[in-house]
Amino acid sequence: MRALVTGGAGFIGSNIALALLERGHSVVILDDLSSGCAANLPAGARARFIHADVRDSRCVREAMEGVSWVFHLAASVGNKRSIDHPVRDVEINVLGTLQVLEAARAAGVRKIVVSSSAAIFGELKTLPIREDHPVEPDSPYGASKLCAEKEALAFGKLYGIETVCLRYFNVYGPRQRFDAYGNVIPIFVFQALREEPLTIFGDGEQTRDFVHVGDVVQANLKAADAPGVCGAFNIGSGTRISINGLVDRLRTTMDGLPPVRYAPPRRGDVRDSLADITAAHTAFGFQPRIGLTAGLADYVAWARREDVVLAHQGDHARGFGHARPQMFQRSLRSDSELSHS
Ligand SMILES: NC(=O)c1ccc[n+]([C@@H]2O[C@H](COP(=O)([O-])OP(=O)(O)OC[C@H]3O[C@@H](n4cnc5c(N)ncnc54)[C@H](O)[C@@H]3O)[C@@H](O)[C@H]2O)c1
Repeated sequence: MRALVTGGAGFIGSNIALALLERGHSVVILDDLSSGCAANLPAGARARFIHADVRDSRCVREAMEGVSWVFHLAASVGNKRSIDHPVRDVEINVLGTLQVLEAARAAGVRKIVVSSSAAIFGELKTLPIREDHPVEPDSPYGASKLCAEKEALAFGKLYGIETVCLRYFNVYGPRQRFDAYGNVIPIFVFQALREEPLTIFGDGEQTRDFVHVGDVVQANLKAADAPGVCGAFNIGSGTRISINGLVDRLRTTMDGLPPVRYAPPRRGDVRDSLADITAAHTAFGFQPRIGLTAGLADYVAWARREDVVLAHQGDHARGFGHARPQMFQRSLRSDSELSHS
C-alpha cells in the first residue's frame, strides 16, 4: 500500500510515517518544514519526500499519485499560534485541507484520515467529552480545525471517499520539540533540562487528557485499516490529570525539578479536558496502551539524547530558546519549596 502523510516531517506525522514503513508500506511525505524538521524524514527506497506547501495544488496532486491512504496532518498547530496569526491559520488549516481533499478525490484515494483536535469543543460542558459534545471553539485554531473536519466529512459523503477525522487530545512523546508554541510537556521537560523555572498558567488545577504518540499512531493505522469506518472520533487516553499533578509526575520521572511559578491564565486555554474514547474503540478497536508514567519516562529519555539536545541548541540559534547538554539531576523537592510567584 502507498500512503501520503502530509506534515510527515512533524512530531505526529513522522511517527506515523515510521510505523507505516515498519509495516512494509510505501510512504510519500509532503511537508514545508515550517515546524517539522528534516531529521525526522525517513530514509530508504520506500520513502519519498516532497518539500512543498500543502496549499500548492500542483505539488499536492503530484504527491497523491498512486496513493491509497492519506494521513493529513500538515497544519498550523496550536491556540497561541492561531491567535498570533489567525489568517495564516485558516489559509493552511482550511484551504490547505481543501487542496488535499480535491487532490484525493481526483486520484481516487480509498481512505483519508484527517488529524483534528479537541480544540474544536471549546469549554467543557460535560465530562468526559463525547463526540456529540457541543462544538464551540475558543480559538481561531479550534475554529479552523472544526471547519477542516466538516469539509473532509462533507467531501467523503459527496464523493464516496472513506473519511475519518481523529480529534486528538493532548498528544506527547518522542519527536515532540520544544518551541514557543509547544505543548506543556515538552515545555516543562526542556525547561527542567535547562534548569529554568517552570511556569504554570492559572492555578494548575486545570486538567488535561495526555495521550502518548504511540497510541495516536495506533489510532491512525487502525482507522485507515477499518473498511467502511467513517466519521469523527475522539482520540485520548480516557484519563486526565491536573497540571499540578503532571508536575509531580515529572518531578519523580526527572528526579527533581526547578522551582514552579504561576502566571495568569492564557486566552484560548480551556479549563478541563477528558476524552470519551468509546466510539473509537467500538468502530476500529482503538485501545490506548501507554500510561502517563511509562510515557513520560519514554519522552524524557528521548529529550535527554545528545542529538536532541544539540538540535534544540540549533533551535535556540533560530530564536526558540536554548538547551544545555548536561542532564538535569536534582534531589526531590517538597511542594513547600515551590515558588508561587
Ligand atoms: N500535538 C498535539 O497535541 C495535537 C493535538 C491535536 C491535534 N493535533 C494535530 O495533529 C497534526 C500534527 O501536529 P503535530 O503536533 O505533529 O505538529 P507539528 O508542527 O510537529 O507537525 C505539523 C507539520 O506540518 C507541517 N506544515 C505546517 N504547515 C504546512 C504547510 N503549509 N504545508 C506543508 N506542511 C506544513 C510542519 O512543517 C510540520 O512538519 C496537526 O494537524 C495538529 O492540528 C496535534
